[in-house]
Amino acid sequence: MNRMSMEMFDHYAAVARRLGSDGLLLGGYAPDGNANIMTIGWGQLGIIWGMPIWTVLVRPSRYTYDCIEHSGAFSVNVPTVEMAGACGVCGTLSGRDIDKFAETGLTAAKAGSVNAPIVAECPIVYECQVVHHNDVIPKHLVQSIVDDYYPEGDFHRVYFGKVIAAEASDDAAKLLGG
Ligand SMILES: Cc1cc2nc3c(=O)[nH]c(=O)nc-3n(C[C@H](O)[C@H](O)[C@H](O)COP(=O)(O)O)c2cc1C
Repeated sequence: MNRMSMEMFDHYAAVARRLGSDGLLLGGYAPDGNANIMTIGWGQLGIIWGMPIWTVLVRPSRYTYDCIEHSGAFSVNVPTVEMAGACGVCGTLSGRDIDKFAETGLTAAKAGSVNAPIVAECPIVYECQVVHHNDVIPKHLVQSIVDDYYPEGDFHRVYFGKVIAAEASDDAAKLLGG
């Protein structure tokens, strides 16, 4: 897919809608150098410390956690509506067990600005450098959320990634469902 640099908040509403439906694809390199992607349904694009930041939440049990810990960078890839099946695969199977690019037929490419893989077929891609992380603190979280989302612990690590590059294809709006 041919993408060009875009303004940080271009396609903001469409990206948020994709986040809340099939999910976005979070890319990282594993310690062995393999490219991995995982579906995320939680995240925020905004401004912190005067810089554009993607905030993503990753449970320590995920292979993606190992990847981001290793490389200190990640990509946020916005899939088309037609990639819903791939989002399902990447949201249920682990890169510890399978090569998700081979499984889904998606293509891993090297990000231009950070040490992370990007998904070549995605119409919008953000390349992010981790500048901070913190962990969800159980005693600071309302009990109902602890009960609903953390019955087995595995409290998310929250990664703050400075957006170093953001790109979109010409037809991104159409591919993302308007
Ligand atoms: C729609 C959807 C959204 C998800 N969002 C997240 C998320 O925000 N954070 C997270 O840690 N796991 C999330 N998951 C679960 C991971 O994608 C899933 O456990 C995945 O298999 C982990 O892959 P990995 O072991 O290769 O990292 C989501 C799954 C789906 C289907």
